[in-house]
Parts: sequence; C-alpha cells; structure tokens
Amino acid sequence: RSDRDIRPGPHTVSVVAHRGASEDAPEHTLAAYRRAIEDGADALECDVRLTADGHLVCVHDRRIDRTSNGRGAVSGLELADLAALDFGSWKGQATDKEAPDRKSRDSTSVLTLERLLGLIADAGRRVELAVETKHPTRWAGQVEDRLIQLLRRYGLDAPPPGAPPPVRVMSFSARSLHRVRIAAPAVPTVYLMQFVLPRHRDGQLPPGVRIAGPSIRIVRNHPTYVARLQRAGHRVHVWTVDEPADVELCVRLGVDALITNRPKQVLSQLGRS
Ligand code: G3P
Ligand code: CA
Repeated sequence: RSDRDIRPGPHTVSVVAHRGASEDAPEHTLAAYRRAIEDGADALECDVRLTADGHLVCVHDRRIDRTSNGRGAVSGLELADLAALDFGSWKGQATDKEAPDRKSRDSTSVLTLERLLGLIADAGRRVELAVETKHPTRWAGQVEDRLIQLLRRYGLDAPPPGAPPPVRVMSFSARSLHRVRIAAPAVPTVYLMQFVLPRHRDGQLPPGVRIAGPSIRIVRNHPTYVARLQRAGHRVHVWTVDEPADVELCVRLGVDALITNRPKQVLSQLGRS
C-alpha cells in the first residue's frame, strides 16, 4: 500500500485487550475478557498452551504458579487438574466455590480457547481475536493443528472473500506462523518482535506474514520503523501499550492496532468512550 494510505487517526486504531482487561481482572480469565468486551475493546489477545491431554488453554507462563493456586507446567497437567484450581485469587479475586451460579465460578477458572471462542460468538457485536502460540516449536505442530481445528469448528478459519478476518494468529516463531498459513491460508499471521533482527531492518518480514508485531520499546527507540514496515506492505500491531504517552506516539505514527492491558483507559484517550 502507498504512503497515502497510511494515515494516523484515533478512530482507525484498533484496541486489543491484552490477556483481557488484565489490569482490572485476572489475566486470561472469563472475567477479564467479559470486562474487555464491556469496555468496548475491538479485539481480545490470548496466549495458548497445550495441556497434557491435548486441550488449548489460555495461559501465558510455562507454569501455572504465578497465576493460580496450583503448581506445575501446563504441559504436565490435564484439563481436569487445571479446572480444579483458582486462577483469580492471586489478583485478589478468589473463585467462590460456594457460589450458586455457575457463571461466577467460571469467571476465574482456567479458560480454554474453546470457551473463549464461545464468549466471542455470544458477544452480540464484532470482537476480533488475536491468538498467540506459546513455545510452539516444542510441540511439532500440535498447537497449530489443534488451533486450526477449533477455528474450523467455529467457522473462523475461512472468512468470506472481502470480509475482515475475525481471528489472527501471532507468534515470535516464524515456523509456527508458517504452519498456520499452510493449514489455514485465510487466517492472517502476526510476526511478534522483541528486537529487530538485521534481516528485518528494511521492513521485510518472513514470507507470508501480513502483520508486524513490534514491542513498544522498538517503536519508542526506532519510530521510523513503523513507516518502513507499512511501506513494505505490513500492518503494524504494537504491544504492550499502556502509557498515555505511548498511545499518543503510536497514534501519531499511524499504527494499526494497540495491544493494551488497559482497554478502557486507551479507548477513553482515543475519544471512543
Ligand atoms: O501481544 C503480544 C504480546 O503479548 C507478547 O508478549 O509476553 O505478553 O505474550 P507476552
Ligand atoms: Ca501474548
């Protein structure tokens, strides 16, 4: 796309809730994602990992110790083990086991990707999803296979021609993104960057990648990189943008999406609430 199409503007920036509205509610729980939808986020971000029995769950760390009252690696636990735990009390939001209504018990339980897809399907408005594959190379394609299987089940792997894709897959691993493109070519892929490798300095990314995902640190240190990526044909989704000065910088540079732990505050800063 040409330089003329790259236009900054608060209303063109998509606001993506990072791990849900994770500043206000425990990350990666239904509570956090419900809050993000209520807040008006355009999209939800989640990390996915495989359990020992092959379920994709939304957990950031390799182990569950930080975000639950249990211990161990996700990959060594079955979904039933995880379902018995509380993923809310570390942030002061304990699951009320006595709660009569299932909704309140579920809101701080482990969240499967399938349940999150169900939440989005019931949102009553368009909410996009950005799924990040964590440590995918350890699983020889199983994470991507399972992910695509689920997206197919929900009809999200092949949007009608011309329709904006409802789901994108993000990863720091180019190999993981390649696997996704082979299995589901219509699903856009986001190449996440913590630093800029020499081969990507001119804005070129791994073949087939449509969206660049630089960290806010990259954008702060190399603001002209955004335009370089866009000139090379990529959209730019920046993470994790929580500070008002960073929001302002990203808008000024014309980034396409802001991934934030504070969707409500960012939407308010953008004049959208
Ligand atoms: O949205 C990308 C960002 O989430 C990558 O970092 O560690 O929060 O998964 P991390
Ligand atoms: Ca992530």
